[in-house]
Order: sequence, then structure tokens, then C-alpha cells
Amino acid sequence: MDVAQQSVEREIRRIGAELAAAFPSAARHPMRALDTRAMEIASGDRELRAALFRFVDVVPACRSLDDLARHLTDLLEQLPETPPPIAAAMRISHTKAGRAALGAAAASGVKHLAHRFIVGETPAAAMSVLRHLWGHGVASSVDLLGEATVTESEADAYARRCRHALSELARDTSRWPTRRQLERDGSGALPRANLSVKVSALTPLLRPDAPELGRLDAARRLRPLLRDALRQAAHIHIDMESLDSRELVLDLVLELLSEPEFAAGPSAGVVVQAYLRDSSQTLERILTWATSIPRTPPLQVRLVKGAYWDHELAQARQQGWPAPVYEDKAACDRNFETLTRQLLEARPAIRVAVASHNLRSVSHAIAVSRLLGASDLDLELQVLRGLGDELQDALAGKGFRVRTYCPVGDLIAGMAYLVRRLLENTSNESFLHEQARGTPLEMLLAAP
Ligand code: FAD
Ligand code: 2OP
Repeated sequence: MDVAQQSVEREIRRIGAELAAAFPSAARHPMRALDTRAMEIASGDRELRAALFRFVDVVPACRSLDDLARHLTDLLEQLPETPPPIAAAMRISHTKAGRAALGAAAASGVKHLAHRFIVGETPAAAMSVLRHLWGHGVASSVDLLGEATVTESEADAYARRCRHALSELARDTSRWPTRRQLERDGSGALPRANLSVKVSALTPLLRPDAPELGRLDAARRLRPLLRDALRQAAHIHIDMESLDSRELVLDLVLELLSEPEFAAGPSAGVVVQAYLRDSSQTLERILTWATSIPRTPPLQVRLVKGAYWDHELAQARQQGWPAPVYEDKAACDRNFETLTRQLLEARPAIRVAVASHNLRSVSHAIAVSRLLGASDLDLELQVLRGLGDELQDALAGKGFRVRTYCPVGDLIAGMAYLVRRLLENTSNESFLHEQARGTPLEMLLAAP
């Protein structure tokens, strides 16, 4: 390890220890957000994990508690072995009253879990949470749950919901008190109203074999949204989804933002997924665009590891393709750090958001940013509601700019989102899982 890398590692250990010490005491179990006992059982048993994920998928379609319990026991009966707590629950399912009790417990379990991740059913219902976060030094990005629409009318409805949410956010946030570290960085003002958008919800025509069709259809719904954001001084962030839509999403966003009417706004952002083996090419493409198009404010790039890992791997195996994602977690984490540095070095052509709950990844970003001589406020740190709450509080308490991604919508719309959170956090390789298992801090902060 060279001298420069040694000093980065020293800084990471110092920053990581400071942040860990600032976690609220209840955060000794960060996995509490995931109903620890259920998650422990699920993590240890692949078949049970698969059954639980199938169950979460059918919950919204169940018409009664009896129906729900029937689905649950049907799925659990397919397991080769049943863990004792589940076997006990299944014994009561042989009577109608027993099934109703089991159904009620299961339904409330799923709702309880969902409500840790979802801040409200509507933007109006979510507003008090967003206001409370702001009051505690935390910015937010609202994600209207819904994705992979199949009809034009669903896509129209999603676009309408986005426009409505933007105006509600613009109205409400204008009354919020000033929070300096959340409202300005070296490139200028940062919008208070911030909406994350999924392109798969903006068009039912997102097909890799006919990308032009999907791009044009999504553009006719995204353009009015960008105009609204410009008028209301809001930020629009385009999420990244599965790999088969990546090029289309980037073409769509970069082309729209290159149009003369968007040369002076709105503030907008895209996402790079570090789990993809070719993610450095994606980043290069974005950086080339950002340095060649004279546009203000700078594009924000949110760096993530990627939420569709199981899907990408399963898809590649099914088709006999080489895996597009890293299969070794440490390789993914190392790539995340390489991309973090490239992004930080590319400022001020872009704004950087590092989105992770991994204390090592976050401490690394802060350390590199400082060693490059930047102000802490020229780096945004982002977490997901319900998973990064303790990290969020620790970061805000230390004066960093932290933004929490806040899903809004009902349980049905949120099911795919919820399943992704469960998949990622019952994996033995998840950082939060490691932390919950009590892995010592020096190991959590070690270089991947
Ligand atoms: P870690 O535990 O350090 O990493 C977990 C991640 O590592 C997994 O999600 C996966 O990507 C990867 N991984 C797991 N196992 C392996 C393995 N064996 N080999 C290689 N890699 C592995 N994701 C998107 O795809 N698109 C988005 O637009 C998006 N927006 C986000 C916005 C915010 C604010 C945040 C916090 C996250 C967002 N994510 C998005 C989710 C993100 O991609 C991760 O899934 C999530 O943050 C977990 O990563 P981590 O760094 O927190 O945790
Ligand atoms: C997802 O929807 C957070 O965008 C990410 O899983």
C-alpha cells in the first residue's frame, strides 16, 4: 500500500469510528428496521427466503386473512425443512380460526415492515415526515412507488402523480426554515423539493429490442415534468433500474437535458450502478457529456451499488450470458471506491451523491473528498428511509449534507421495492447484516 493510500485508510478509520460513535444507542441493532428475528431466520435458509419473497408478492392480492394464511401455509409447506417457530405457526393453520389468526399476524407483519420503508400513502400524508426530517437537518427525495407500468393510462397516471407531488413539495417546502448545509454547495443553490423518478413507470414501452419507441414515449411524459421542475425550482432525479433499460434511460435523460430550453435548469440527476462490470464506461460517458454541454446547474450523479443484483444474475444464467454484475462483493465494493474517487475528482463539472448504508463506503467517500481539499458540503450522502435512519442521524449530527430517499405510495405499488430491500438485506454479504451480527468495527471499516 503506498503512502497516499495509507493516509486514506487512516482517515477512513477515523471518520468511520466517529460516525459509529454518533449512532444513537438504539442503533446497536441497525437491523431492527427489518424485523430482526424474521430476517435472521430468512437469512439462514435459502428455500425459506424464496418462499417469503413469493409470499410478500401475493399479499396485496389476498382478499381475506383466511386467504392470506392459506397462501402462507401453501408456500411454507413446500419447504424441505421448516424452522421450529414456523412449524408452530403452521400447526394452528389447520382450523379456520387458527388460519385467521395466522393470516392476521402475517398481514400485520408485512404492513409493519412496509411502513418502515414507506413514509406515507400520498405526498400530503408524507409531508409531516419530510418536514420533520428537514427540521433535524436531513433533506429528502420523494419516490412515488410504482414501476414497470404495462398500459399507457398507468404511465399517464404516474406522470400526473409526479406533477402533483412536485407542486405539493414546492408549496410546502417554501415554508420550511432555512438549513444552510442542505441548501447550498460550491456550485450554488440546492432545491428543497426533490423527486426521484423511474422511467419504467413513465412508459409501458421500455423494450430493449425497440429502444427508440420507449425513449420517445417516456420523453413526452418526462419533458413536462422537467418544465414543472424548472418553474418550481425543484430537482428531478432519474433512478436507474435493471440493465436492459440503462442505455435507454441515459439516452433519454442526457438528450432531454441537452435541449436549449433546459440549459439553465432544472437541477437533475442520474444514477451509476457500481455492481455492473462496465460501470466505468457509463461514468465516462456521463462525465464526457457533463464537460461538453454548457449547462447549469451541474448534473448530479448518484453512485449506488445496484438494487437488481439477484435479477441480473438470474437473467444472465437463464440466457446463458456472462454475468454483467460482479459476483464477488469485495470486487463490487472496490469498484464503488474507484468510481467514488473518479466522481469526486470530476467536480465541479458534476455534483456528487454517494448513496450507501455501508459505513466503509461512506467513510471512504468523505475521506477522499477531504484529501482532495473539498468542503464536506460538496459531497452529498444519501440513504434509504428505514434502512439508513441511524447513519442519517449520525451524518446530520456531524454537519454532513444527507438526503433520505422516501418512498410514497401504497403497499401494492411498493411490493417490488419491498422485495428488493428484503433480498438485499437478507444476503449474508450485506453490510447491515454484517453489522447486526456484531462484526467488529475495524473489520467493517477494512479495505474491501
Ligand atoms: P452493501 O451491503 O455494502 O452492498 C450491498 C450491495 O452489494 C447489493 O445491493 C448489491 O448491489 C451488491 N452485492 C451484493 N452481493 C454481491 C456479490 N456477491 N457480488 C457483487 N456485488 C454484490 N439502486 C439502483 O439500482 N438504482 C437506484 O436508482 C438506486 N437509488 C438509491 C438511492 C439511495 C438514496 C440509496 C441509499 C440506494 C439506492 N439504490 C439504488 C440501492 C443501492 O443500489 C443498494 O442496493 C443499496 O444501497 C445497498 O447497498 P449498500 O452500499 O448500502 O450496502
Ligand atoms: C429501488 O427502487 C432505491 O431505486 C432503488 O430499489
